[in-house]
Amino acid sequence: MDYLQIVGPTKLSGEVEISGAKNAALPLIAMTLLAKNEVVINNIPNVVDIKTLSKLLENLGATVTLDKDVLKIDTCSLTNTKATYDIVKTMRASILVLGPLLARFGHCEVSLPGGCAIGQRPIDLHLKALEQMGAKISIEAGYVLAQAPDGLKGAHIVFDKITVTGTANIVMAAALAKGKTVITNAALEPEVTQLCEVLKSSGVAIDGIGTSELTIYGTDKRLVEIEAFDVIPDRIEAGTYLCAAAITQSEITLKKIRSDHLEAVTSKLQQMGFGIITKNDEMTIKPISNFKAIDIITQEYPAFPTDMQAQFLTLCTQAEGVSIIEERLFENRFMHVSELQRLGADIKLKGNSATVTGKIDLVGADVMATDLRASSALVLAAMVAKGTTDVHRIYHLDRGYVELEKKLQKLGANIKRLQE
Ligand code: EPZ
Repeated sequence: MDYLQIVGPTKLSGEVEISGAKNAALPLIAMTLLAKNEVVINNIPNVVDIKTLSKLLENLGATVTLDKDVLKIDTCSLTNTKATYDIVKTMRASILVLGPLLARFGHCEVSLPGGCAIGQRPIDLHLKALEQMGAKISIEAGYVLAQAPDGLKGAHIVFDKITVTGTANIVMAAALAKGKTVITNAALEPEVTQLCEVLKSSGVAIDGIGTSELTIYGTDKRLVEIEAFDVIPDRIEAGTYLCAAAITQSEITLKKIRSDHLEAVTSKLQQMGFGIITKNDEMTIKPISNFKAIDIITQEYPAFPTDMQAQFLTLCTQAEGVSIIEERLFENRFMHVSELQRLGADIKLKGNSATVTGKIDLVGADVMATDLRASSALVLAAMVAKGTTDVHRIYHLDRGYVELEKKLQKLGANIKRLQE
């Protein structure tokens, strides 16, 4: 099994190109189930989750080819509507095929995703919404069995909680439903907005894009023609590199970003004292030696993203003072804390809140990645810790970061991928 060996402390310099957003690409790949043509998706991030969902579509009978960052998917000759456990268990976002499969074929079986390190991750809101659209849903032997023999019907869905993939699933289901669907309390994440924009440009009438109330006028099972498009840049990858520069007190420039997707993150960095200079699709962060502690509450977009919580918590171990970090979206998203404590960090956990006292010098040690974003946080800590840190179980990292160690090596980090 691979692990990363990092020697710190290190300085970074130069520029890093940000890849396409994994969490935008996944629903866009599922969306190809609604297309009558081969769909060309550019700026695809070459990460494990993309390969997993591509494999799932191939198992359903789609033709999928990946050439560098261009993914071509043809679902015209789909033969099978069962998403099996062996694939779904490795990636919960597989649930994104449920809405489009049911809307197009009137029946499908999708394995329940099963547990996840950061929380129970239920899909009750997805299922309730589909039932409101006329689906018959049952759970049998770990699978969601969904039937809508007469097709899905438009409905007024009010989500009890804001759900990113739940909103994406229902937008895709509504695209092929008969009649109008209104989604109230829809997720505002840029990844959901891009899905709506691509569907709209493919002829699906959608109002309210970018707002919490979406209105989708279904095509009544008429498949859509989807033109080639580029996946938006990954705001979480970008935020992770901003934290890498911040924690190592380095100046670096990020290229190919969308600064408007990063406002909650950059405003926190500026409050801590860092300089942020934005020019078109580039962003430069200016370091500061004694940066201030900060309080963070994770909430839905456009507020501070939960996917940046672990990285900021790590940064706060080097800030002057006490930072309070409250995780409001997931019930178990502090597993990086015990690993950071092995490096010497002073962090106290109480319920869904972490109190981080800095500035504490970290010392290298063996640590274990537990989930995607926690693993990137451990890499950040390792770059400022004195000595050698081995980060184990980095298969978590490979799910969502394109060539992280290569991009950091190019920035000057002393980081190597080795085999256990
Ligand atoms: C998406 O997950 C992202 N994944 C996650 O990123 C991200 O952390 C999360 O949104 C929040 O921003 C993808 O986009 C593939 P939710 P998702 O449904 O859609 C509760 C990463 O690191 N909920 O918005 O699964 C749920 O328990 C990953 O890239 C229900 O109760 O998250 C959570 O508390 C990790 N019932 C809250 O809503 C449901 O039916 C938000 O979950 C659905 C969700």
